[in-house]
Amino acid sequence: MTDSRQGAGPKDIPAISASDIWSLTNSMGGPGRAIQSARAAILPYERLLRWIPESARLFDVGCGSGTLMGLALSQGLIAHATGVDRAAAIEKARAILAGEPVELLVGEDFNLWPAGPFDCVTCIDVLHHVPPAVQAPFMAAMCQRVGAGGRLIYKDMADKPWPYALFNRFHDLVMARELINYYPIDRARAAILDAGLVVEHEEQFKRGLYWHQLIVARRPLSQ
Ligand SMILES: C[S@@+](CC[C@H](N)C(=O)[O-])C[C@H]1O[C@@H](n2cnc3c(N)ncnc32)[C@H](O)[C@@H]1O
Repeated sequence: MTDSRQGAGPKDIPAISASDIWSLTNSMGGPGRAIQSARAAILPYERLLRWIPESARLFDVGCGSGTLMGLALSQGLIAHATGVDRAAAIEKARAILAGEPVELLVGEDFNLWPAGPFDCVTCIDVLHHVPPAVQAPFMAAMCQRVGAGGRLIYKDMADKPWPYALFNRFHDLVMARELINYYPIDRARAAILDAGLVVEHEEQFKRGLYWHQLIVARRPLSQ
């Protein structure tokens, strides 16, 4: 990564619509495609994409069916992506991203992730699905993969205000059939700082009935 990329500010990315995701996921059948497309109403992907460094080699932890990687590739933001997730998600990602410069890996154990380093590591709405005892080492492993001058884009669902957090708990119980464990933003920030990264941007924002928390951090070149 060159010096000029270090600290590059956010790009201007147009709002991602449900129909953008619908076009991307044409290999997905029936309700799965509709559910994935509807995610645009919950999660403004452009708020994440705008922070991806130019021509980055991206590592997407808990990539799901590959929407973020697909959007980044279709917009020419990245050169290559590596995604890791459970088998069922990776099977969908393989179909959606067939022919693209991506490597898709099955696994839940962070000890088996590629060592990197990567220009950009993304982790979007994953930590609350990780068991509490594993959350801290999972965060540390993720930060470790960010190369010098590279960027971490971390987003998760907020644990407050409580009525929204409760609603999201219910959402995950129905949609993912999982009882989630929030990872508070203070802990996420502390883990990122402990790993030697510098926070560039932090925000909490609401979309519909969902509160999100986002941290963008960078590993200094001199480390
Ligand atoms: C809410 S989905 C988000 C998917 C994707 N990041 C997105 O924003 O569309 C959470 C994902 O985290 C994955 N996940 C949960 N625990 C994981 C682990 N230990 N390793 C890798 N992926 C995991 C789930 O399988 C699921 O695909």
